[in-house]
Amino acid sequence: MWTGRKTMLTEEEKKEIEAELQEYEQKNAACIEAMKIVQRHRGWLSDEAIRDISEFLGMTPDELDGVATFYSLIFRKPVGEHIILVCDSVSCWIMGYEKIIQHLKTRLSIELGETTADGKFTLLPVACIGACDEAPALIIDGEVYGNLDKSKIDDILVKYGQGAG
Ligand code: FES
Repeated sequence: MWTGRKTMLTEEEKKEIEAELQEYEQKNAACIEAMKIVQRHRGWLSDEAIRDISEFLGMTPDELDGVATFYSLIFRKPVGEHIILVCDSVSCWIMGYEKIIQHLKTRLSIELGETTADGKFTLLPVACIGACDEAPALIIDGEVYGNLDKSKIDDILVKYGQGAG
């Protein structure tokens, strides 16, 4: 089994990454999973986190950062408590993406890619989430919501602690 070099990863993070490394022949293939693991623990990946992971995997921070930039769900800056991923692929476009995104931006007072001032929500676009038959759709914290309209969005935001507006 591949063993890591000096790193500031926590014991728990190391254990989880090591379990993933056993699934992959190449450590490069495991690096995305490793980043997801550390992100799950820390919320997002700071330069320090990237350095920790790269040391553990025997990669350079630049190599790892290069991989991270290809994945919209690897966050390199702080994100909100809840991450709203709005599908911007074709079915959702046809079924009213524009209205949905506009309503979310108004309700949260942020643009795509931004986080609310209270740190509660981050709004991000994402490619098809596999709920095309329920378009337009979004994901919050891993849960899929489809057949969206303005009032359904209001209900969803209330559920996540955002008062009706
Ligand atoms: S296009 Fe939006 S869920 Fe598939």
